[in-house]
Amino acid sequence: MAPSTDLVDFCVRLPKVELHAHINGSISPKTMHQLMDRKRAMGTLNEELAAWQVPDSLERIHDFFALFKYIYQLTEDEEAIRITTRNIIDEFAADGVKYLELRTTPRKNQATGMTKESYLSTVLSVVNEPRDDIIVRLIVSIDRRNTLEEAFEAVDLATKFRSQNVVGIDLCGDVSKGSFEALKPAFDKAKSLGFKVTLHFNEIMENMVEAPALLAFGPDRLGHATFLDDASRQHIYGNNIPVEICMTSNVVSKTVDSYETHHVKDLLKEKHPFVLCTDDKGVFFSDLSNEFVICANTFKMNKEELFESSYRAIDYIFADTKTKEHLKQVWNEWRMQEFN
Ligand code: IMP
Ligand code: ZN
Repeated sequence: MAPSTDLVDFCVRLPKVELHAHINGSISPKTMHQLMDRKRAMGTLNEELAAWQVPDSLERIHDFFALFKYIYQLTEDEEAIRITTRNIIDEFAADGVKYLELRTTPRKNQATGMTKESYLSTVLSVVNEPRDDIIVRLIVSIDRRNTLEEAFEAVDLATKFRSQNVVGIDLCGDVSKGSFEALKPAFDKAKSLGFKVTLHFNEIMENMVEAPALLAFGPDRLGHATFLDDASRQHIYGNNIPVEICMTSNVVSKTVDSYETHHVKDLLKEKHPFVLCTDDKGVFFSDLSNEFVICANTFKMNKEELFESSYRAIDYIFADTKTKEHLKQVWNEWRMQEFN
């Protein structure tokens, strides 16, 4: 059944916090077309990319991680990164997101001269553009396929740019590749420097073997946490570790069978901290308000419960107490107007 326009409208207007959004997966099809046109005009559109069809529906996504081979060709120089980051922030702001933690893996490209440092400094130059409709922070991602040396490089870059609103470090990437153990020294370093850490956790059943190592590390938040054995569940519930929930991403990637069986139902039942997020709004065709609509419809949440869920998420952001207090004030003012 199609959601009511009243609910859709409410979920767009509701002030929201987005904490799990990969930059290169959040590029909207519109921006992908813009970047294709730009490459065409510059004469740098190669045959392979020219033959690629920008995803226009979920049915086209068969191999999610393979998509990045094309997307990364669209974002291989600083100007493309600038356009991309700005468009993504604009789109989240237009969807009612008031606080956004973007995350990205610093990337270099020999042909264009882009370095990991220039990549990150470009992203941050946009993240820090003054605007009063949204607050943006950055998490630096370490890909599971990275070498330990590359992981240390990411932490060093995060440290170098820390004062420019880098708030945390993430473990991401193809869940069937690499291991946390091999990269752990870099995460230890990040933690010792005071960075917050979020880890993609148990997205697929095969990841469960490394769950004890990930949890023993003491992450501040977990992404997905789809498959939990008793020990993991006890640890996560016992330590109140917030979980970043990306319903559409999980259903489209087929790590979860349906919205109805999505593991967020357990978190709702246990009143365990979670945050609704998008993961990759560009390739999954779902913005954050839509994730709220889906959750509301699937689990029969009313408007007050949706507001509470959004309000609680403020406690799990990686920014400082002052920012949390400011956001709570914004949310409370909105609540007064909306519900009175
Ligand atoms: P980037 O870090 O800005 O380049 O964003 C794209 C990257 O995010 C991909 O190459 C993946 O490594 C990572 N990513 C996006 N979605 C997921 C996910 O669901 N699980 C794990 N990694 C992901
Ligand atoms: Zn993710």
